[in-house]
Amino acid sequence: MDRIRIRGGSPLKGSIAVGGAKNAALPLMTASLLTDETLTLVNLPDLADIQTLTRLLERHGVGIAVDAPASAATGRVVSLRAREITDVTAPYDLVRKMRASVLVLGPLVARCGQARVSLPGGCAIGARPVDLHIKGLEQMGARIELDGGYINAAAPDGLRGAHIVFPMVSVGATENLLMAASLARGETVLVNAAREPEVGDLARCLVAMGAEIDGIGTDTLRIQGKERLHGAVHRVISDRIETGTYAMAAAITGGSLEILGGDLDQIQAVEKVLGAAGVVFERTERGFSVARANGLHGVDVMTEPFPGFPTDLQAQMMALMCVAQGAAMITETIFENRFMHVPELARMGANITIHGASALVRGTPRLTGAPVMATDLRASVSLVLAGLAAEGETEINRVYHLDRGYERLEEKLAACGAEIERIKGSE
Ligand code: EPZ
Repeated sequence: MDRIRIRGGSPLKGSIAVGGAKNAALPLMTASLLTDETLTLVNLPDLADIQTLTRLLERHGVGIAVDAPASAATGRVVSLRAREITDVTAPYDLVRKMRASVLVLGPLVARCGQARVSLPGGCAIGARPVDLHIKGLEQMGARIELDGGYINAAAPDGLRGAHIVFPMVSVGATENLLMAASLARGETVLVNAAREPEVGDLARCLVAMGAEIDGIGTDTLRIQGKERLHGAVHRVISDRIETGTYAMAAAITGGSLEILGGDLDQIQAVEKVLGAAGVVFERTERGFSVARANGLHGVDVMTEPFPGFPTDLQAQMMALMCVAQGAAMITETIFENRFMHVPELARMGANITIHGASALVRGTPRLTGAPVMATDLRASVSLVLAGLAAEGETEINRVYHLDRGYERLEEKLAACGAEIERIKGSE
């Protein structure tokens, strides 16, 4: 297994380009199941999770081709065509690798009237049930049985529109039902829908494919189902989590970066919190610049559904607060087990105590390098940030987590002055 070695202490200087959003790209790819025509996605990132979903979609019968490799102007262009669905089963070995695979459920039932999708099971950050996806499809007329670890869904006469009120905000359930509703009979209303930019991106792509959706960007989505959808060309939005991660990399090293393609409008809550901590942002023609003004100050943060502070930046924020002056209370409200980075940061000299869903971080003047590892993507990248700021050498194991969500991470950081390298390994 590969490792990443960092010698910390160099302030980052230069520019970093952010890619297409992983969490927008995954549902967009599954939207290709809704039509027998070609869906072309521009700016599709090249990540391990995208490859996993490619394998699953190919199993369902989707033909997938890279039309153009990444260029500065477009990112990768990939076309997907589900002329015919040849298999409606999403097997355990692929779904357990990546929970987002469950996003094939809504499109498959809507298009084929049946689907058999493995239940994803829990993961490192929490139990993460999919009950809201299932209940929503049942309200739309699907018969669902759980059998042998699989969700068996049937709607032989097609799905029908329904009025669905989510008891809590779920990005995945909103996306699954949005896609299903696009091919259902009549009107579907999704109330308390997720407002994450990735949901809006999916909705705009569906509209380009012929769907009729009102309320995009709000918590109430109104969808008029269509008998069929058609092909489209759609550009994937930029990755706000990658954007926020690199902004924090500039801040934690006391450097300054221009984030090319970064969209401050997507990370307003993050900009506000970082601003209070002493980080300065300025819009530029190509994105924005970010630098640490003087010292860093501790600020309290609570994760919330969009437009609140994203859970996917909580671990990175915690790494930053480890070297701030004063204390920061970081509260995680979305996932029940998303503090796996805490003991690893502590091994690097951080002073953090967990009280239920909150972590109290008392800033220390310096972190020291250590061998560390983490069990999820964002926890792993928070250790990279800590390593960039630490004295001495940090070695991060289980790099495959990073490869799921950050394209060419070490290359991008090294180009800005970080002493970082990947060590190929076999163990
Ligand atoms: C999406 O996951 C993202 N993944 C996650 O990104 C992100 O952390 C999360 O949204 C929250 O923003 C993708 O977009 C592929 P949810 P998702 O359904 O859709 C509970 C990353 O690092 N819930 O909004 O799975 C659930 O347990 C990641 O890139 C139910 O109880 O998240 C959680 O506590 C990881 N029942 C909360 O809702 C359900 O049926 C929010 O989950 C569904 C969810």
